[in-house]
Amino acid sequence: MLPMRPMKLGGDFIMFGENSLEYLQQLPAKTKRAFIVLGGNFMEEAGYLKEITDLLEEVGYTIETFNDVEPDPSFDTVQKGAKAMLAFEPDWIIAVGGGSVMDAAKAMWIFYEHPELKTLEEIVSPLPKLRNKAKIACIPTSSGTGSEVSRSIVITDKETHIKHGIGDMELMPDIAILEPKLTTTLPKGMTAATGMDALTHALEAKVSNRANVLADVLAEKAIKDVFAYLPTAFHEPDNLKAREGMLLASCIAGMSFTNVSLGIVHSLAHAIGGKFGVPHGLANAIILPYIVSYNSQDETAKQLYQEVADMLEVADLVTAIQELNKELGIPTTLQAFIKKDEAFDASVKELAKLAKADGCTKTNPVIPDEAGFEELFNKVYYGGTI
Ligand SMILES: [Fe+2]
Repeated sequence: MLPMRPMKLGGDFIMFGENSLEYLQQLPAKTKRAFIVLGGNFMEEAGYLKEITDLLEEVGYTIETFNDVEPDPSFDTVQKGAKAMLAFEPDWIIAVGGGSVMDAAKAMWIFYEHPELKTLEEIVSPLPKLRNKAKIACIPTSSGTGSEVSRSIVITDKETHIKHGIGDMELMPDIAILEPKLTTTLPKGMTAATGMDALTHALEAKVSNRANVLADVLAEKAIKDVFAYLPTAFHEPDNLKAREGMLLASCIAGMSFTNVSLGIVHSLAHAIGGKFGVPHGLANAIILPYIVSYNSQDETAKQLYQEVADMLEVADLVTAIQELNKELGIPTTLQAFIKKDEAFDASVKELAKLAKADGCTKTNPVIPDEAGFEELFNKVYYGGTI
């Protein structure tokens, strides 16, 4: 018999397919006040923000927009957004953007629902009940984080450079709307990085020591589809079939990892991202092949990776990931992003400490000690085989 396991795959609805945005008109609303969170003017310039606000206004919504979410959103931004929400009193929060925007919107929502909370440190699981004031809908414009179906958020403390990860089922968005045309605005570099983030989610979920049969099915489908669609989405940004394939793959990977957690690719990427500002997806993409090699010392993980390689009809999974990275123009080491060896060398011990303490470490098939993490950081920076 299998041990008892929980699986939650999404909020109330996951809408996908043509014209999914129209579902916005069916959101169950009391006061019809929508607070739209965005990360800059991309959606406005592409005309999609107007499409969204037109749909909402047609059915009587009053709308306020907040478009100041930066990549790797800071606690300052979260506080600003929460303050604006407290003044506007929305009953729907609608995040339209990538992982940063969705994560920031979810974090703002916590402080809107519970203004008695003041600091990031107070946001720990189990969270107090949300949804007393508003529900949240997420409309991803990139295909990577799966934040539209995930219970986790990452917010950066700009003073300490530490990325705070919070995971709690209360944070699973009520509605996810997957509209592929919105992702056609994503630049090539971001398409590559976010797509590799999705692949990392699926591969880490697959070998997680909390993996289960349902999460496996989802992870396998996501892995297969990233390999099938990411190169085309990268080379042909307007290819809607490839964009849709990636948007669904990212969402499916999100459903998988949010239930069984991740592994040390993310532990290393969180540390390096917080300290040196390396974009999350790129850090993951570079680190992933090294950790697949490293994890292969565990017989179970090795066998699971072989199953994935067989499914992809490739001889070796590490080589397949390296080739995909190459096709997407992703470098083989972190030296491309962190130029100064001295700065990196001086930080390795601190990075190792952070990675060891990261919430993703405990579900990796092999759990390194701090010295082991130092070695891994040196490998992903200087290169070499594991
Ligand atoms: Fe990620």
